[in-house]
Amino acid sequence: MDTWLNNGFPRSLILLLTIVCVCVGGARAQAPSTCLDCHAALDPPLQVTQAQFSQDIHAQEGLTCASCHGGDPTKADMDAMSKAAGFRGKIQRNQIPELCGRCHSDGAFMRKYNPSLRTDQLAQYKTSVHGKRLVQGDTKVAVCIDCHGVHDLRPASDPRSQISPLNVAKTCSRCHSDAEYMRGYGIPTDQYANYNRSVHHEAMTVRGDLSAPTCPTCHGNHGAAPPGIDSVKNVCANCHVFQAQMYDKSTHKAAFQSASLPGCVVCHSNHDVSLPTDAKLGTGSEAVCMRCHKPGDICDQARAKMLQDLTQLDGAVKAADRVLNVAESSGMEVSEARTEQDQARDSLTKARVTIHSFKTELVEQDIQAGLKIAAKTQAEGQAALAERDRRRRGLGLSLGIILVVLLGLLLYIRQIESNSGKVGTAELHR
Ligand code: HEC
Ligand code: HEC
Ligand code: HEC
Ligand code: HEC
Ligand code: HEC
Ligand code: HEC
Ligand code: HEC
Ligand code: HEC
Ligand code: HEC
Repeated sequence: MDTWLNNGFPRSLILLLTIVCVCVGGARAQAPSTCLDCHAALDPPLQVTQAQFSQDIHAQEGLTCASCHGGDPTKADMDAMSKAAGFRGKIQRNQIPELCGRCHSDGAFMRKYNPSLRTDQLAQYKTSVHGKRLVQGDTKVAVCIDCHGVHDLRPASDPRSQISPLNVAKTCSRCHSDAEYMRGYGIPTDQYANYNRSVHHEAMTVRGDLSAPTCPTCHGNHGAAPPGIDSVKNVCANCHVFQAQMYDKSTHKAAFQSASLPGCVVCHSNHDVSLPTDAKLGTGSEAVCMRCHKPGDICDQARAKMLQDLTQLDGAVKAADRVLNVAESSGMEVSEARTEQDQARDSLTKARVTIHSFKTELVEQDIQAGLKIAAKTQAEGQAALAERDRRRRGLGLSLGIILVVLLGLLLYIRQIESNSGKVGTAELHR
């Protein structure tokens, strides 16, 4: 590590100093910091408090103010900040990546603290739109502390960190949704609003599915750039493997590529990915196919056929469900048919994936498999209902017989009662 920190101060000397400080400090793990003594009492932006800094991963790892700012934290007066002690003064925005990278790009140094931590953040950052523009003198782009914070910097694994999966979209949006701040760049500022409406956002925040993507999942943590036309599909393909495999083999892939159209995003959008329904294959407001294809052409016919197929299987599955529901609520045993019914549903799901081949005959295969199962389960449900009716008829008959017997008994009792009554009055008259 060939830097200002070590140039003036051989590492062995720092180590010695640290040991001395720790010994003097007795049981305290951290060397006393006069920096904090003064800065806790200053007004913002000069204020840094103990409560704040004790949350910082760097403080927790035993680093001090001087690790980043230089200076001498043992001096109680303004000498603490003397240039002679290596004090750097205010760190300009364009110097921040190099400051952080000094340690974070030094594999040997970082291994001592955390061997599994990557050390490519600065290198990656330099490839990003942020990093490239910073070098050109644009200090409005994100630098390390815009995403990570400073002085109470937490690792991503801490849910309170600005870059934890649930918080990071908000962190990006601080700039990217600020139309005033982003004026002059000529890019939209609706990514956050759109993302917040997406299935991905819902999966993550409502269902707590942290495997759903958020801004840096698609754009990279440090190499933040818009995925290029070719990599867009690959971004989605990381997670939606089957749709991507189908799409790869389709005519659309080559056709879209030669027209510079961004693959999956053409039909699903990038930030506002919504839950697709069969209406996407229709001709209404959600329709996607007819944006390019003309009524009656071979693709329109393919679209209509796929829609018809899906509708048919969907109807068949629902019809079978209804029969099985009635049978079950009448106390009939249909659990086996229910299990089979799941396979019919799977065929429907599979067909919706197979759409991405854009070949009617492949979709048709899944549909036929599903229809066969749905027909069978519906028949099983109807058989159960027939059995129920048979049992009901049997039950009705036995109920009738019991009723007749009861009625007979009742009449018999009445007769006995009226007979004994006549005897009673006769006796009175005597
Ligand atoms: C005696 C009180 C005192 C001590 C001790 C002290 N500071 Fe300061 N610091 C100040 C004051 C007051 C200012 C603002 C005036 C100035 O810029 O000189 C300041 C400014 C700064 C700035 C901003 C400089 C700039 O150019 O805007 C940094 C960074 C800083 N201090 C870090 C440190 C560090 C690191 C230490 C410990 C090594 C430290 N200070 C110790 C009082 C102190
Ligand atoms: C991990 C590196 C790091 C550590 C550790 C660190 N700082 Fe900073 N500090 C920075 C960076 C980077 C900035 C610039 C922030 C900005 O531009 O908004 C900064 C800004 C400041 C400023 C504000 C300067 C200004 O005028 O806006 C002060 C004061 C300061 N630090 C004091 C401290 C004190 C006191 C400590 C120890 C308690 C400390 N810093 C620990 C990196 C660090
Ligand atoms: C003096 C060396 C040094 C400097 C300068 C430094 N760091 Fe660190 N940083 C470390 C060490 C050591 C760790 C602890 C690694 C660990 O335990 O995971 C760390 C941890 C981190 C982590 C948490 C990593 C994790 O575990 O997920 C982040 C994020 C981070 N630093 C960002 C920054 C940023 C941003 C800057 C610049 C403002 C910076 N660091 C400056 C040494 C440094
Ligand atoms: C545009 C936002 C952004 C910028 C700028 C940024 N980071 Fe990060 N950083 C992230 C995100 C997001 C993560 C990963 C969070 C996760 O693991 O879920 C991360 C993770 C890290 C980690 C943990 C190890 C790792 O790579 O996963 C370190 C260390 C780190 N960043 C340092 C830096 C340094 C140093 C800079 C400046 C050169 C920097 N970051 C700039 C967003 C950013
Ligand atoms: C401090 C403000 C700020 C923050 C925070 C920030 N960005 Fe940026 N970002 C910018 C600016 C400014 C540009 C330059 C715009 C341009 O050149 O088109 C930019 C450019 C980009 C671009 C390239 C856009 C293009 O097509 O040119 C992407 C992608 C991007 N940012 C993603 C992110 C992500 C993801 C995050 C959060 C992890 C983030 N940004 C956080 C300010 C920020
Ligand atoms: C599911 C993946 C995905 C997620 C999540 C995502 N993006 Fe994007 N983003 C893309 C794709 C793909 C493009 C490029 C679109 C294209 O080339 O047509 C893009 C483009 C951009 C651009 C360039 C300008 C534009 O709008 O075209 C910016 C800036 C950006 N995204 C920021 C963000 C921010 C901020 C978030 C989080 C709120 C985010 N993105 C979340 C995939 C994603
Ligand atoms: C990091 C993984 C990941 C990436 C990258 C990703 N997705 Fe997703 N996607 C998910 C998860 C998780 C869900 C929610 C699935 C669920 O809950 O059933 C989802 C849901 C969807 C859905 C709704 C379908 C459903 O069954 O809920 C569509 C459509 C979708 N994503 C399209 C895309 C597109 C287009 C891209 C690229 C721009 C993309 N996804 C990138 C993980 C990802
Ligand atoms: C030409 C338009 C088009 C393209 C390109 C496209 N899709 Fe789709 N996608 C659809 C349609 C239409 C549906 C809706 C099927 C349904 O529900 O009837 C769909 C449904 C989906 C679903 C939900 C499937 C389900 O189980 O309901 C996911 C996930 C998905 N697509 C991902 C992708 C991915 C990833 C890519 C790129 C590899 C992609 N799509 C490319 C049109 C497209
Ligand atoms: C962005 C424009 C666009 C959209 C949207 C689009 N297509 Fe296409 N489609 C094309 C192009 C271009 C071709 C290639 C035409 C050629 O080769 O002559 C094509 C070809 C096809 C083919 C012929 C495939 C083959 O194997 O020969 C079918 C079928 C098809 N599309 C169906 C669909 C369906 C269904 C949808 C909606 C889910 C759809 N398309 C959406 C542009 C589009």
